[in-house]
Amino acid sequence: MTTNASTAGSTGAGSGTRTTRAIGFSEYGGAEVLRPIDVELPAPGPGQVRIAVRTAGVNPVDHKLRAGAMTALFPVTFPAVTGYEAAGVVEAVGEGVTAWRVGDEVFGLTWGGAHAEHVLAAADKLARKPAGLGWAEAAAIPLAAETSWRALALLGVESGQTLLVHGAAGGVGTVLLQFARSRGIRVVGTASEANHEHLRALGAVPVAYGEGLAERVRAAAPEGVDRVLDGAGRGDVLPLSIELAGGAENVLTIADFEGAARYGVRFSGGTEPEEYHREALAGALALHEAGELRLPLHRVFPLAETAEAHRVSEHGHLRGKIVLAVG
Ligand SMILES: NC(=O)c1ccc[n+]([C@@H]2O[C@H](COP(=O)([O-])OP(=O)(O)OC[C@H]3O[C@@H](n4cnc5c(N)ncnc54)[C@H](OP(=O)(O)O)[C@@H]3O)[C@@H](O)[C@H]2O)c1
Repeated sequence: MTTNASTAGSTGAGSGTRTTRAIGFSEYGGAEVLRPIDVELPAPGPGQVRIAVRTAGVNPVDHKLRAGAMTALFPVTFPAVTGYEAAGVVEAVGEGVTAWRVGDEVFGLTWGGAHAEHVLAAADKLARKPAGLGWAEAAAIPLAAETSWRALALLGVESGQTLLVHGAAGGVGTVLLQFARSRGIRVVGTASEANHEHLRALGAVPVAYGEGLAERVRAAAPEGVDRVLDGAGRGDVLPLSIELAGGAENVLTIADFEGAARYGVRFSGGTEPEEYHREALAGALALHEAGELRLPLHRVFPLAETAEAHRVSEHGHLRGKIVLAVG
């Protein structure tokens, strides 16, 4: 993933400059560092569009960046505005953009800055929002779909194989399980007991995480596990994952950077040269059109309550996605 958490620009715009409202932070810290700020309305550069944001997804990367936990990978400049996916209406197009016109309803990835009334996005990272897809659900798709598509591609998991997913109930897991089901991949997913029915509804076999996990996975998948995706990043699950899948090469983590280095497991942060977002958005739209994509929302918050949305995200026991309703 690329990031530019300071996309929304600087505060203190001069008189006559059009401004827009964002939720930003000027120091690393807890959710209380988030404040409403007025920033200069961003002008789209070549290949970009400006979106009037209707909804924006909230992801763990937002609170990790705000807390200063990702400075090595993604340094930010202050004031910073997080938010890496949005749905909204195209309000201005930059030079060379032919795919979109003012008034188009779109959704997709941004470079940060989506927790605001306006955000810039690369024209080629957007898809058209169908009328039958809700605004909140549209904002829940881009990051989860891109991550899921990428993870399945990097794992090389195929129809008929069994995939173990750690942390299957959240924003990413919810979409990943449905991509996997549509490809004929059998999924065993870990979640707390309260989320087991949610996993079953998405076609996965749920198992509880914690002590005794390996035995529970073996019971749920007596034929064995072919690949493992760690989307939890907790509980030191990589050693048992390597054992269950028969080697570190069959395991991928998107959530445990240090564990990956320690155990020789591949970490994917979205910085691979291959691009998956276009296929991922198309894949999600195809499933939605077929009536096979459920997008449960953990909670929807107004933009003014972004700090509370960060707190709930940080708590980390989500069923589906947190979304901000902006405009
Ligand atoms: N590298 C990348 O490209 C990339 C992209 C997107 C996300 N991520 C990372 O992937 C992780 C998941 O993202 P997300 O958006 O799905 O997060 P999320 O929506 O916050 O969901 C996290 C899920 O983890 C579960 N969980 C909590 N403790 C667990 C444990 N000990 N074992 C297993 N599951 C546990 C929770 O379910 P229960 O309530 O059932 O515990 C919750 O549903 C985050 O760390 C995020 O930063 C990485």
